[in-house]
Amino acid sequence: MKAAATFGKKTIRDVDVAGKRVFLRADLNVPIDDGRITDDTRIRASLPTIVHLLERDAIVILASHLGRPKGKVSDALRLKPVADRLSQLLGRPVRMTGDALGPGVQVAVDKLRPGDLLMLENLRFHAAEEDNDATFAESLAGLADIYVNDAFGSAHRAHASTEGITHHLPAVAGLLLEREVTALSKLLHRPPRPFHTVIGGAKVSGKLEVLEALLSRCQAILVGGGMANTFLAAKGMELGKSLVEDEQLANAERIMAEARRKRVRLMLPSDVVIAPQIHHRAQKRVVRVTEVPKDQMVVDIGPDTVTAYTEHLAKARTIFWNGPMGVFEIGSFAEGTNAIARFIAGRTADGVITIVGGGDSVAAVEKLHLARKMTHVSTGGGASLEFVEGKTLPGVEALLDADAPLPAAGDAA
Ligand code: 3PG
Repeated sequence: MKAAATFGKKTIRDVDVAGKRVFLRADLNVPIDDGRITDDTRIRASLPTIVHLLERDAIVILASHLGRPKGKVSDALRLKPVADRLSQLLGRPVRMTGDALGPGVQVAVDKLRPGDLLMLENLRFHAAEEDNDATFAESLAGLADIYVNDAFGSAHRAHASTEGITHHLPAVAGLLLEREVTALSKLLHRPPRPFHTVIGGAKVSGKLEVLEALLSRCQAILVGGGMANTFLAAKGMELGKSLVEDEQLANAERIMAEARRKRVRLMLPSDVVIAPQIHHRAQKRVVRVTEVPKDQMVVDIGPDTVTAYTEHLAKARTIFWNGPMGVFEIGSFAEGTNAIARFIAGRTADGVITIVGGGDSVAAVEKLHLARKMTHVSTGGGASLEFVEGKTLPGVEALLDADAPLPAAGDAA
């Protein structure tokens, strides 16, 4: 099978789960506003594995984190809205426990029958989860016979439920995790050239490592969003009230020098949309990057930049996009981001590999209903960036290799 050949890890297709208790770690960390889920992509993306297991009569113990409660119980970060949405999508009730671990959880698990699903409360209400505490991991493992990791979005974290637990159970991948790794691997192993990256988002600071890694792989890097300001400022431009990371100016200069040395085309905006403030009724206008007044800020890339970027992208055979081109949450500042999204989506039909990674660019793509038109839209934010950097993800690494013998269910892996 093609996917397995590049993936290299055992998956749920390799194990007999009938009648077995399966600890399924998913990443159901979705944005919730006032108790309402504003984007259920990660829940929908987790469905194929859940359905696969339930259809094969597994006893599914589903676990996830939500937000960053830092070891404390937070009512705002309970998983109940997620369980409700999952229940709608599955068309069956989804029962939840009041905690991720404890005597109540064991009693509830003991009552489960093949084909049942039980969802645990937010794992991160226990500090032991993020500490990768060995006792906590062993106790989670004690609930089940087999461990399945489908939480690609959390695979860059070595936590108790993503890494520690694999020392106690046969550990295999879910279908989403396999799909993500297989798709993102296309960017690592001889991607068809030219390979161009569009990178945006607010800050350079979170993206230094990925920029450095991409300089060794791409033929062009097209920069937009707030992070472009820091590059422009490093070239001596005055950007009014725009966000500029002064402490990153030297890094921006270093990256530009590195790009020149490696003959990678690093493109910056030539014109920008400016406004006096970030507000949907703010008056906007387009100026050259050399003409940003002191009382204005950059909120989007301008039309000439969109033309230059799309003309350049038209030559690419592989495109990776991470991060919006402006403050796309506000409709009138979203034109640059939307134009880039539409252009990239349109290239897929011509055989170009189009991969979108990272929370905000994914949100933009979802908003425009373009996800299906991309080769792959990753559910991972930090995880997809670390993967593209070429780093090993502990949550993936810990799983059984595809050619390893399968330990008996319940045996230490
Ligand atoms: C994410 O949203 O990127 C993942 O769920 C991981 O969350 P974290 O950054 O809080 O570990």
